[in-house]
Amino acid sequence: MNILVLGSGGREHTFAWKIAQSSKCDALFVAPGNSGTAEIATNVNIGVNDFKAIKELVLDKNIELVVVGPEDPLVNGVHDFFLNDDDIKHVAVIGPQQKAAELEGSKEFAKEFLYRHNIPTAAYDSFTKDTVEKGYTFLETLNPPYVLKADGLAAGKGVVILNDLVEAKAELKSMLVDAKFGEASNKVVIEEFLDGIELSCFVLTDGEHYKILPTAKDYKRIGEGDTGLNTGGMGAVSPVPFATDEFLQKIEDRIVKPTIAGFKTDNLPYVGFVFIGLIKVGDDPKVIEYNVRMGDPETEVVFPRLKNDLVEVLLAMANGTLDTIDIEIDERAATTIVLVSGGYPEAYEKGKEITGIETIEDSIPFHAGAVLKDGKIVTSGGRVMAITSYGDTYQEAIKKSYQNIEKLHFDKMNYRKDIGFDL
Ligand code: AMP
Ligand code: GLY
Repeated sequence: MNILVLGSGGREHTFAWKIAQSSKCDALFVAPGNSGTAEIATNVNIGVNDFKAIKELVLDKNIELVVVGPEDPLVNGVHDFFLNDDDIKHVAVIGPQQKAAELEGSKEFAKEFLYRHNIPTAAYDSFTKDTVEKGYTFLETLNPPYVLKADGLAAGKGVVILNDLVEAKAELKSMLVDAKFGEASNKVVIEEFLDGIELSCFVLTDGEHYKILPTAKDYKRIGEGDTGLNTGGMGAVSPVPFATDEFLQKIEDRIVKPTIAGFKTDNLPYVGFVFIGLIKVGDDPKVIEYNVRMGDPETEVVFPRLKNDLVEVLLAMANGTLDTIDIEIDERAATTIVLVSGGYPEAYEKGKEITGIETIEDSIPFHAGAVLKDGKIVTSGGRVMAITSYGDTYQEAIKKSYQNIEKLHFDKMNYRKDIGFDL
């Protein structure tokens, strides 16, 4: 069958890499894709939110399966767009419908869902411009640090954590009254601070059944020792060494089961990936957030460990037969190190030639913000490439990635040299 992946990051290159290995895949398209997907699929220069152009492509190329990478088109209703159009409603779309995508699109919606289904999470309240004074009072009842979250999508920048009450109040005002994050901060969720180590759990669902993929841990801060600004993710490790069987069982019983059951009870149509951001507080998992897609760079370590034919798994999700699939996982650890443009996550330059990719041995270079230009591979984004390796231990895998990174070059290339330091 002909398959389309929407997106252009390292996550989407990994999707394409895994789908291209399936005997069920005849032709693979990626929109808009990057220099990595160009090597294994046909890139089509269409934006992920240009639903009309996506429909034309799907009809023109006889595409029967669409895999949505990022959250934006899901929150904008791409799945609903297919279902509401007689010409394309037969096409299988992997990704929840708009109503369910609100779990990522609105922090308040997610918190209400978590509370309604008794899923462990931080205590919270939410506020608007009209209730900003109440917000100040609520902050006074909390102990620092103070966690403020813009309700809507803010490109990963909408969470602010502050130690000082005066600063927290000023930030709340800036978000609500001065629209710091635009419409995304029309509403702000204030949360109890949870102290612990983070990990991510990935669940596949057809709306009825679920399967759990390996856990992963990503490294969000730009600086070594988890310091500096937040990024999309600077590296990842799977499995997470501190996630023991006992702890994983708690995640399944207390979080995964009620989440999937909650989708049904609340009538949230969900065929896709559920990315559950967790924090281990003492010995117990608590939910920090839901994302309605796979993580990036977590996909670059989770999918390489999946032994199944991904297309078979995706079709079972679309057909409601996920219960018939046995997920098989590679015992080896996988790690990835993300190479970024100097300056990222603030301003950075683009168009720098990347060299040395062909000399990589025993690692997989997943391209992210990299495109083909005049026969050369050049940088086009903040996160440029994710170098994934396997190992009997995560330490061994990390070592391989770093050895290969030595052979890569682009002007002002930056990366963290301490991925896995805290495990
Ligand atoms: P989110 O966008 O909700 O994932 O939040 C971004 C980051 O902020 C998370 O990855 C955590 O590191 C941190 N964070 C969010 N909520 C909390 C919380 N309640 N307590 C502690 N840290 C948090
Ligand atoms: N790596 C975190 C995310 O994909 O949101």
